[in-house]
Amino acid sequence: MFFNFFSLTALAALATANAQGSSCPEAARFGNVNVSPSTLSPGETFTVTTNLTCAIQKGNTPTFLDYCISATATHTVTGPILIARRTYDNTTSPPIDQFTAVLPNWFYFTDATYSLLLDNSFARPGPTGESVITTGGILTPINITGF
Ligand SMILES: *[C@@H]1O[C@H](CO)[C@@H](O)[C@H](O)[C@H]1NC(C)=O
Ligand SMILES: *[C@@H]1O[C@H](CO)[C@@H](O)[C@H](O)[C@H]1NC(C)=O
Ligand SMILES: *[C@@H]1O[C@H](CO)[C@@H](O)[C@H](O)[C@H]1NC(C)=O
Repeated sequence: MFFNFFSLTALAALATANAQGSSCPEAARFGNVNVSPSTLSPGETFTVTTNLTCAIQKGNTPTFLDYCISATATHTVTGPILIARRTYDNTTSPPIDQFTAVLPNWFYFTDATYSLLLDNSFARPGPTGESVITTGGILTPINITGF
């Protein structure tokens, strides 16, 4: 009886661990990006923290990480603005890419919607087994004010 109970508990623990391990949402497949503060003015310093746990788990281990400010509006906006271009070292533990940046003085619009765009460039084997780098992007909303 004790052993039965024990193995059931062990199985339950294993199931929980598996569920947690595979609980990565699709939205985090290229990285989970946090921008702090998320409301910025030109010249202001901000911190970007990207959790790459899920990206790596889904086979999207970054080679390069490019960060841009991108805008959408009903009219033409110039950009995206390149904020940082980083090389990722997969021995980084925990798998977090963190840096600070300053929001550049640029042509901002009160009616535009802004995001921080992360482009994760990762290597995957192609049909012949040769490694090919493809890119996946994720947008994180930010506000830009005070320009
Ligand atoms: C990174 O994301 C994973 C998966 O969501 C989570 O388990 C882990 O705690 C996060 N790491 C940090 C430092 O926030
Ligand atoms: C990156 O590291 C993780 C964890 O050690 C590993 O599972 C993954 O296969 C590595 N990715 C590459 C492309 O080496
Ligand atoms: C942007 O500003 C609006 C209005 O103040 C606020 O509701 C929203 O949470 C802000 N978004 C971010 C990402 O800070």
